[in-house]
Amino acid sequence: MKNFLVIGNPIEHSLSPKIHNYWIKQNNIDAIYEKKLLNKNELSNLVQEIRKNKISGANITVPFKKEIINLIDELTPLAKKVNSVNTLFKKDNKIIGGNTDVKGFEMSLKHIKYNIAGKNVLILGAGGVTSSIICSLESMGVSKIAISNRTIQKAVEIKKTFPSLNIIKWGDAADFDAIINTTSLGLKINDKIEINTSQNCKGKLFYDIIYNPKKTNFLLEGERRNSQIENGILMFIYQAQLAFKIWHGIKPEIDKKTIDLITND
Ligand code: ATR
Repeated sequence: MKNFLVIGNPIEHSLSPKIHNYWIKQNNIDAIYEKKLLNKNELSNLVQEIRKNKISGANITVPFKKEIINLIDELTPLAKKVNSVNTLFKKDNKIIGGNTDVKGFEMSLKHIKYNIAGKNVLILGAGGVTSSIICSLESMGVSKIAISNRTIQKAVEIKKTFPSLNIIKWGDAADFDAIINTTSLGLKINDKIEINTSQNCKGKLFYDIIYNPKKTNFLLEGERRNSQIENGILMFIYQAQLAFKIWHGIKPEIDKKTIDLITND
């Protein structure tokens, strides 16, 4: 039996086992998918276990998407570009780090039929997943991307990979068609982000990468301003679909039943 893992810290909130085990069963695959809380010093052990075929593959989540890079053999070109790995798999006896977040984000916008081409986007945060979102936005042909992070140096680092980024100070006003929260602010129910923009945001999009809670204060704020709001659940489902394809060679269908299974958790 093959066995897969999602590792992170914290990991309790992860819905990866639920969706992967659902698709494993649906496709009659002899495998199991579990979640495991790891500390940083246990990452090399995980890689060893994959090397010895004790673990068949793994998803990597916060805060290890960058940490894992130095421990594995190769990166896919995309993972290398965004310097972020969320899927480990074996090929020709090498442990490869892939990234399915970039495409997952793009697919989530396609799913809701939101055309972001030509739009002016403001990104909040400069953490592990932010480069994936920027890469995805550039590939979809957005017009401008501004980035705002509490620690400005981290935005400066990201700009080295994406030179056209416009860095703005945390809390400063900015104009946008779509605003995307990539910070971890919102995971806790009382977390709040001050958004310095006009009160009426009709026609704009507020997108939060967070999917649990379903409506962060950031999204509630968007709702109060008459914006379209979207949480990270579709991005989550689509990144999982692509990881599943890498490991099992099957791209499961994402239909209403799949989405309900995950959103009604
Ligand atoms: P990492 O910082 O290790 O990459 P992450 O979870 O991927 O971790 O990213 C956390 C993001 O949320 C960062 O953009 C972080 O801002 P800093 O770079 O300034 O730390 C942001 N974040 C977390 N807590 C925050 C807070 N209280 N206020 C503002 N931003 C916060």
